[in-house]
Amino acid sequence: MARYVVTGASRGIGLELARQLGARGEDIIAAVRSPSQALLETGCEVAEGVDVSDDSGVQRLLDALKGRRVDVLINNAGILISDTLESVNFDDAMRQYAVNALGPVRVTRALLGQMGEGGKIGIVTSRVGSIGDNASGGNYGYRMSKAAANMAAVNLSIELKGRGIAVAALHPGYVRTEMTGGHGSISAEAAARGLLLRLDELTMETTGTFWHADGQQLPW
Ligand SMILES: NC(=O)c1ccc[n+]([C@@H]2O[C@H](COP(=O)([O-])OP(=O)(O)OC[C@H]3O[C@@H](n4cnc5c(N)ncnc54)[C@H](OP(=O)(O)O)[C@@H]3O)[C@@H](O)[C@H]2O)c1
Repeated sequence: MARYVVTGASRGIGLELARQLGARGEDIIAAVRSPSQALLETGCEVAEGVDVSDDSGVQRLLDALKGRRVDVLINNAGILISDTLESVNFDDAMRQYAVNALGPVRVTRALLGQMGEGGKIGIVTSRVGSIGDNASGGNYGYRMSKAAANMAAVNLSIELKGRGIAVAALHPGYVRTEMTGGHGSISAEAAARGLLLRLDELTMETTGTFWHADGQQLPW
């Protein structure tokens, strides 16, 4: 049994990650701003008030951990505020940067003292943050925040190599959640299953790579 921390576990992919990890018998701490009924029904341990864009929110997660070792950290919390060149709102873009790009760095730095050799960190970024894969444009705030999150994954993988902690950037697929207004090609259940497989496979040999939940490696 390993101990997992999942951020943004109140709904969508994060909730499903918590549910599946619980079913696997893992020890899970579901970090949320406020818990949903669905999360409470999983029976997982919940850390409340954890806004990943805020130091005091992340401190609440640390307090809830009470010094326990963390084996796997899944930085899943994220927001999407759609825009075009004409409509991009720079405050919204900054907000996405704060949550999607700086959030995983803030949480990882805070939890690092409780992680060690053999630890793993997944950052749920997005394929739309890939520069090499960008064929459709749009969504300036979201895309740029996820590109920065991808950079964070590579930076962390380099910095944490010496500590034996592996890091991956993970794309869940186009998933039917609140973020997509219920549109998408796969369910949160299928996306979470794929993300957990990719994390199970992650080693120090593959640290610093970018994966689609379906198993294909993605370009940066
Ligand atoms: N759905 C897709 O097709 C898709 C594709 C590529 C990548 N992703 C990524 O996958 C991750 C999960 O997305 P989803 O589809 O499950 O979206 P979702 O249903 O909108 O869920 C997002 C989760 O993030 C949490 N969250 C938002 N802002 C937060 C903050 N400041 N601090 C802590 N938690 C916060 C939300 O909590 P609250 O309940 O408190 O708002 C919620 O639990 C995101 O990083 C997203 O960018 C999704």
